[in-house]
Amino acid sequence: MAFLELVNLTVEFQGFRAVDEVNLAIDKGDLHVIIGPNGAGKTTIIDMITGKTRPTYGAINIDGENITGKSPYEIAKRYRVGRKFQGPNVFDHMTVEENIEVALAGHSGLGQTFAYRRTPQIAERIDELLEQVGLADMRRMDPTYLSHGQRQWLELGMVMAQDPEIITLDEPTAGMTADETYKTGELIKRVMWGKTVIVIDHDIDFVKQIAQRITVLNQGRVLAEGSYDEITNNEEVVRVYLKADSEEV
Ligand SMILES: Nc1ncnc2c1ncn2[C@@H]1O[C@H](COP(=O)(O)OP(=O)(O)O)[C@@H](O)[C@H]1O
Ligand SMILES: [Mg+2]
Repeated sequence: MAFLELVNLTVEFQGFRAVDEVNLAIDKGDLHVIIGPNGAGKTTIIDMITGKTRPTYGAINIDGENITGKSPYEIAKRYRVGRKFQGPNVFDHMTVEENIEVALAGHSGLGQTFAYRRTPQIAERIDELLEQVGLADMRRMDPTYLSHGQRQWLELGMVMAQDPEIITLDEPTAGMTADETYKTGELIKRVMWGKTVIVIDHDIDFVKQIAQRITVLNQGRVLAEGSYDEITNNEEVVRVYLKADSEEV
């Protein structure tokens, strides 16, 4: 049994099927990439896994337990599903390290108490996370001074601060330079090693760099699943996605 399973996962919005009987099984510790044209339903799948959108039918199982219909809060806390949204979500009025600290405090529940203070354990974890995402030297800076790539890495650090077991990353390299994209791939592989990770992305070089397995989604349906070589040699995938994509850009 896979650690994370989507079984016939389907959602309709006013009769329109955004996700149509998607089946996906991801083993614990694997990194799985979902690719596909705009509007294919990629973000909607993550919305369902994280509890933001309720499926019309089908199931999401984590470690054998059906979590379908549970609240986003419960899915995040109890099943330890972390999410990085499309687009930046950092607090600009706080320093880089305070952003990490807020994510840590929010996760532990300590943030809600007046008794919060930075214990040596918390300080150590902040140092570790800043080191992991390559922002130790910028810790006292306001995030507005970071590059676009560095802001995204700060967010990856904030996701890791929540100590997730399953991590979903929606287009983590959007707007990045080729160099930043490559660094992001190495960062994800290193920092998220051992976690069960779903990444949505468009950049085929990046997909090659990180993916263990790939699902190609088109109009809500799974068009193909396999390794990078299998996917890039699949005629239908080349026809509906890879070719169209290179003509678009
Ligand atoms: N809450 C919603 N209500 C209505 N339609 C939606 C909603 N969320 C997504 N959609 C539609 O579902 C389709 C898939 O969207 P999305 O999952 O964002 O695609 P992707 O992330 O692959 O680009 C799109 O046609 C989008 O307009
Ligand atoms: Mg999307």
